[in-house]
Amino acid sequence: MTQESIIQDVHSKYPGKLTFRVIVTCVMAASGGLIFGYDHGVSGGVTSMDSFLKRFFPSVYEQEHNLKPSSNQYCKFNSQILTLFTSSLYISALIAGLAASSITRALGRRTTMILGGMFFVSGALLNGLAMDIWMLIAGRLLLGFGIGCANQSVPIYVSEMAPYKYRGGLNMCFQLSITIGIFSANLFNYYFSKIWNGEGWRLSLGLGAVPAVIFVVGSFCLPDSPNSLVARGHHDEARKELVKIRGTDDVDNEFRDIIAASEASDKVKHPWKTLLERKYRPQLCFAILIPFFQQFTGLNVITFYAPILFRTIGFGSQASLMSAAIIGSFKPISTLVSIFVVDKFGRRALFLEGGAQMLICQIIMTIAIAVTFGTDGNPGHLPKWYAITIVGVICVYVSGFAWSWGPLGWLVPSEIFPLEIRSACQSITVGVNMTSTFFIAQFFTEMLCHFKFGLFIFFGCFVVIMTTFIYKFLPETKGIPLEEMHMVWRQHPYWGKFLESENDKIQTSKTETKASI
Ligand code: BGC
Repeated sequence: MTQESIIQDVHSKYPGKLTFRVIVTCVMAASGGLIFGYDHGVSGGVTSMDSFLKRFFPSVYEQEHNLKPSSNQYCKFNSQILTLFTSSLYISALIAGLAASSITRALGRRTTMILGGMFFVSGALLNGLAMDIWMLIAGRLLLGFGIGCANQSVPIYVSEMAPYKYRGGLNMCFQLSITIGIFSANLFNYYFSKIWNGEGWRLSLGLGAVPAVIFVVGSFCLPDSPNSLVARGHHDEARKELVKIRGTDDVDNEFRDIIAASEASDKVKHPWKTLLERKYRPQLCFAILIPFFQQFTGLNVITFYAPILFRTIGFGSQASLMSAAIIGSFKPISTLVSIFVVDKFGRRALFLEGGAQMLICQIIMTIAIAVTFGTDGNPGHLPKWYAITIVGVICVYVSGFAWSWGPLGWLVPSEIFPLEIRSACQSITVGVNMTSTFFIAQFFTEMLCHFKFGLFIFFGCFVVIMTTFIYKFLPETKGIPLEEMHMVWRQHPYWGKFLESENDKIQTSKTETKASI
C-alpha cells in the first residue's frame, strides 16, 4: 500500500468535519502554550534590567558597568546564578513532565492541564512579589511544574481532538501561542523597563498569572478527548463526544479504531518497558532526538538572552529590549505561515527548508560578529550597518525555526506515538526538551564567554546533523490518521527492518487463517 492509497482509504473511513467545538477546544487548550512562551521570553529581558540586577545580582551589575574589571566583553554577563534564574524552571518542568505521564494516563489530559494551570498562577505571583533570590527561584520552579504538566498533556490532547486532516494545523496552535507568549513578554519587558522607578520587572514577571488563570478556567470547561475517555472505560461518553466534535453521526469507524487502539494499549501494563521493545525503536529515537535537536538549533539563545547578547555586542539597554521585541514579532507570523502550509507541503519539506535557512543565517551572524569584535570583544564605535545586519539576520533565522523545528518539534512526536506508549513517549519528549533547554539556559553565558563569535557555528554544526537526519530517517506523516501511523514505519527502508518480525507474524497468522478456511 502506498502512502497515497493509505490517505485515500482513510478519507472515506473518517468523514469527520472541522467543527466549531474542535476549534474552540484546541484554541483553549493551546493557550497553555501562551504561558509557556511568556515564561520563556520574560526572564532574559528582566535579567538585562539594571534595577533587577542591582537588587538580586549586584556583582553582575558591577561587572556590566565596568565597576569591576572583566577580562573580556564576551564574558560580561557570565554568572551561573544569574542563568539559574532562567534555567531552574526547566529542572522542575523535567520532573513534572515525567510525573504527568501517569496523571495523564490515569486521570485524563484535562486534569493534568488544570493542575498545570494552578502551578502557573502560583509561580507567577511568587515571582512578581519576590524580595529575595530564593523567591525568584522558587517561583520559577513552580512555573516549571506547570510547564511540565501542560507540555505533556496539551499536544496529545489537541492531536486526539483534531480530525486527522487538520491535525497538523490545529496542533500548531500550541506553538503559535508559545510564540505569542514570547512576543508579549518581549513587549512588556520593553515597556515595563521604563516604569515604576525601575521596579517594572515585577509587572513583567507577575503578569504571567493572567493567562494562567484563563488556562485554568478554560481547562475546567473543556471535555476530555474521546481517546482518553475510552482509555478510562467511559465508552458511551466517549462516543457522544466524538459525535459532537466530528459534527456527524458517522463515527463508527473512528470509534472502533479508538477502542481497538485502547484495547491494545490496555494489554500494555508497563509502557516504559514496552517502549524499549524493538518494534518501537523508531518512535523511541524520534522521542529523544527531535526535542534534543530542536534545542540545539540554538534558537533559545535568542529567546532567553537576546537582550544580554545585544548588550554584549554593543547595543544600549533600551535598544536591546527593543531589538528583542522586533525579533519576537517574527515568531508568531512565521508560525502562522507554518500552520497554513504544514498539511499541504508536509513535515519533511518544512524541516529541510528551515534547517537550510537557519544554517545560512548562523554563518552570516558569525562573520558579522567576528569582523566587528574579533576575540577580545571590544566594540569601540558600533557601525549602524552592523546593528541592522545583526537584527535582520536574526529575524530571518528565527523565522526559519518558527516554521520548522519550533512547531514540528512538538507536532511530529505527538502524532507518531501509538496509544499504548503515547504518554510515556511524550514524557520522554518533554523530558529531553527540558533537559536540553536547561543546558542552553544555564550555560549560555559560559559558552558565549568561551566560544565568543564562534557560538553560532557550534549550533550550526548541529543544524547540519539534524537536517541530514531528517532527510534520511523521517517518513512523511502528513494526512495519516494516528491509528494508521504504523504503516509509514513498515514502508520505510530503514525503520521497516525493525518491524520485520511483526510483519512476519501478521503474514503467518493471515496464511494460517486462510489455510484453516
Ligand atoms: C520550543 C521552545 C522555543 C519556542 C520558540 C518551542 O517549540 O520548545 O524552546 O523557545 O519554540 O518559538
